[in-house]
Amino acid sequence: MDDTIDWDAFFTLHHDLPREGPGSDAMTETVARSLPPLPPGAILDLGCGPGRQTLVLARVLKHSVVAIDSHRPYLERLAMAADAAGLSTLIETRQQSFFNLAHEPEGVALIWAEGCIYIPGFVEGLRMWRPLLVPGGLLVASDVAWLTKTPPDEARAYWEEDEGIQLLTVKKKSRRAVAEGFEVLGTHILPREAWWDDYFNPLAERSAALRANAGPALTRVLDANDREINIWRRFGDSYGYVFHVLRKVDDAV
Ligand SMILES: C[S@@+](CC[C@H](N)C(=O)[O-])C[C@H]1O[C@@H](n2cnc3c(N)ncnc32)[C@H](O)[C@@H]1O
Repeated sequence: MDDTIDWDAFFTLHHDLPREGPGSDAMTETVARSLPPLPPGAILDLGCGPGRQTLVLARVLKHSVVAIDSHRPYLERLAMAADAAGLSTLIETRQQSFFNLAHEPEGVALIWAEGCIYIPGFVEGLRMWRPLLVPGGLLVASDVAWLTKTPPDEARAYWEEDEGIQLLTVKKKSRRAVAEGFEVLGTHILPREAWWDDYFNPLAERSAALRANAGPALTRVLDANDREINIWRRFGDSYGYVFHVLRKVDDAV
């Protein structure tokens, strides 16, 4: 866990939000429906958070999904939501770090990593998770990328200095994926409403409600949150969240 973050303050802002990153049920469904037939094997939803995408995957793919996250309260919420949606027989929750996943007995047909591959880093995540996949297995990751070759300086400074992330263009990320032993089946850019409806709007509302009584640690978290939203308002045309749909290329024998 990142020890530069005050996690109590972070979860005061983040508890019980619909999602923990940009995305929408509609986009998860669109991308899931775009996939070719899966080889036999497990489906893992890494960094599942409260699990909105887990529910969509189980419903649309009609397949069991193992939802993995390090934060137990998210998994408890997901288990309740799965029950309510009549999907509990298809969804298994596991509190586990995605940094040391064991091989699944039947191999992994699909790794879904929505809004979490930035934690290891895009290339590092691909490299770490690829060996789990069966031949022809798929890895679908949504991650932030430049949508222009000439990003504004202020947006670049925000991502590099505040977030510690070197953004790449979608094309460059595709090239990196190929270098890591994947074929790129497609890329899908999240529409603007997928940032707002279930992510920034609830966060902005919560932030405004908490600010009056916030102590120093919470104020720092709220400031960082409001800055992220503001940067998106001003420069959101230059970067986006992008689903990368990748298929493992078999190792040469
Ligand atoms: C930005 S959130 C995305 C959550 C969810 N996929 C969504 O889009 O709403 C990243 C998630 O990764 C989880 N996470 C962070 N580090 C992890 C790790 N080492 N192993 C498993 N999950 C981790 C967090 O608890 C959080 O739920």
